[in-house]
Amino acid sequence: MIYYRQEEKTTYHKTMLDSLDIQQRYGFLSSSPASTFSFGKRIGKKLKAGSIIALIGELGCGKTLFTKGICVGLGVPERQVNSPTFAFVNEYQGRLPVFHIDLYRLNTIDEEFEIGMLDYLAKANSGVIALEWAEKALALLPDDHLQVHFEVLSARKRRLKLIGFGEKFGSLLGELGGQ
Ligand SMILES: Nc1ncnc2c1ncn2[C@@H]1O[C@H](COP(=O)(O)OP(=O)(O)OP(=O)(O)O)[C@@H](O)[C@H]1O
Ligand SMILES: [Mg+2]
Repeated sequence: MIYYRQEEKTTYHKTMLDSLDIQQRYGFLSSSPASTFSFGKRIGKKLKAGSIIALIGELGCGKTLFTKGICVGLGVPERQVNSPTFAFVNEYQGRLPVFHIDLYRLNTIDEEFEIGMLDYLAKANSGVIALEWAEKALALLPDDHLQVHFEVLSARKRRLKLIGFGEKFGSLLGELGGQ
């Protein structure tokens, strides 16, 4: 009898965890560049002001292509979206302003960078930030942000893992799961 009760309790907790997982995580298997782009576009259509998207993954995993999709979903013309490797930040105007930041060339987080970054994070209250190589500056990000981890599985296959931190992305991730 006691054993049975313990089982019941375990099951209950597992269900709680599962529902949390469904809200805050979403996995996507991409089999082509076009599929990464259109997945980004689907997300871009749903983004609200104040969204910070942290893109994490090795060279050539698809961060820029995914960002293009997000921007197009937000109504930015595709040809405008390019990796801002030399400029650090590109700004686009769609349904919301988009700040496309690439930290590839960032070596150290000094005061000047921190001030600049905090400035963009403040601007993003009314817009969207897509941040490539976000792992270099995760400590500066607010609690509420969406991490997208890219894994290269083969020449054309990528696994994307979306993890919502904070409250903001629960409904978006839930909607992705529901479609
Ligand atoms: N399923 C896929 N999803 C995304 N890109 C893919 C896929 N299959 C192949 N590719 C190729 O991988 C490359 C991804 O380039 P992209 O510039 O988006 O990567 P990145 O992560 O931004 O790289 P970097 O670290 O240099 O900024 C493109 O050449 C694209 O065609
Ligand atoms: Mg890139």
